[in-house]
Amino acid sequence: MTGQGSGEGILKKPYIQCINSKCGARFQITDKLIRCPECSDLLDVICDLDKLDPERMKMVFRQRRSSLNPLDLSGVWRYREFLPFTKADLDFVVTLGEGNSPLLDAPKSAGYAGLNNLKIKHLGWNPSGSFKDHGMTVAITQARKLGSKIVVCASTGNTSASMAAYCARCGIRPVVFIPDGQIAYGKLSQSLDYGAKTVQIEGDFDVAMQLVQDLSEDSDEIYLMNSINPFRLEGQKTVIIDILDQLDWKVPDRIVVPGGNLGNSSSYGKALIELKEAGFIDKVPSISIIQAAGASPLYRTLVSSATELLPTKDAFTLASAIKIGKPISWKKALRTLDFTDGWCDVATEQEIADAKAILGRDGIGCEPASATTVAGLRKLRDLRTAGRAEITIDPDENVVAILTGHQLKDPEYTINYHQDNLYEHATYDSVLVEKSGKLHASFANQPVRVKADKASIKKLLGI
Ligand code: F0G
Repeated sequence: MTGQGSGEGILKKPYIQCINSKCGARFQITDKLIRCPECSDLLDVICDLDKLDPERMKMVFRQRRSSLNPLDLSGVWRYREFLPFTKADLDFVVTLGEGNSPLLDAPKSAGYAGLNNLKIKHLGWNPSGSFKDHGMTVAITQARKLGSKIVVCASTGNTSASMAAYCARCGIRPVVFIPDGQIAYGKLSQSLDYGAKTVQIEGDFDVAMQLVQDLSEDSDEIYLMNSINPFRLEGQKTVIIDILDQLDWKVPDRIVVPGGNLGNSSSYGKALIELKEAGFIDKVPSISIIQAAGASPLYRTLVSSATELLPTKDAFTLASAIKIGKPISWKKALRTLDFTDGWCDVATEQEIADAKAILGRDGIGCEPASATTVAGLRKLRDLRTAGRAEITIDPDENVVAILTGHQLKDPEYTINYHQDNLYEHATYDSVLVEKSGKLHASFANQPVRVKADKASIKKLLGI
């Protein structure tokens, strides 16, 4: 059987390279690097994909779906020829059977966004409930291969949950840094449950992110697991390969993804560059990145044609996962937009909240950050209707929207919306003490109280 259950198709000699074309320094794949030691820019992991036979590999990927080998059952390791590991390295793999989310139709969301062909890829249906598992299985495997004892991350909640889960599987010590009081409870509960040392710092995600970079530069013992670690992005690349496999390699016109620290969008661009260069596809989908209006550094950088990132000071959004003002991977995200002829746009708090409710009506549901995708699609449609021809989205385009996190990560947001009690700004001191910026519960589904007797219930239901 071709390649099943083994690392047979894996190619040799991956290496690490600086993304800055003026520097381009290369390093060993076993160097524990986060930034280029020569120029401090971001790093890529490079695999030699030249010798892959695309048609054969497409068949192998499909066949692996019926294998019982844990590597084949993982929706990440199934595509291991695109990952920077040799056959011997596969002994280090830490997997929780990640990936394998279906591509779903979502007729109500499609109608809301004004599209005829919308599919949803729900990465919230992963073991720890977010897309991070795609990247974490690979980064923790690399950490294990390098013999790391302690891994760290800054997180708005999902990275920490995922890192803690994978560490629990292999005995590496997880230490997570989260902005105090700013992450959803579902996510905090996960990192506690999975045994991570959970450090709540005074400051937002951007402060935590700087702190973990400084820490990891200071100590050889500590390995950083945020998406600045290029191995994370290698794993997240496989989302694109999986979508194409599920579409029988018919390339969609557009893929829409939320933007926070910009690791996901960066990895999608890298996947598409590699797939095209290796001859797996001959056209590429346009990538649309959607940020929350109050945390939109990439959007603002693009619209002002700045050459350096314009960070958002005091970034704000109720979609706490993407409350990020200084995204680490912005240069790689620009590479994605350049290569795919893509664009970044923003969605307001109201637009995000309503789009989330509509996704719920499709029986899908997601955490607020994920709903930026459908909100963004609707917005692009509205811009077209308003005659903004430069930002067009054809209703007949084949579009895939990426949902990044599970609905149950942040139930408080959902309950507050449906009870018409969601505020952009709210301060709690056990009870709500101060609030402003009320959002409309346009699609509210309020719970009702009723007497516990048959007659009352029949009356309520009109039967
Ligand atoms: N959606 C969800 C649910 C997230 O948790 C994140 C990021 C994003 C979107 C943005 O993805 O950073 O790749 O652009 N969460 C990180 C965390 C920052 O710490 O969990 P990105």
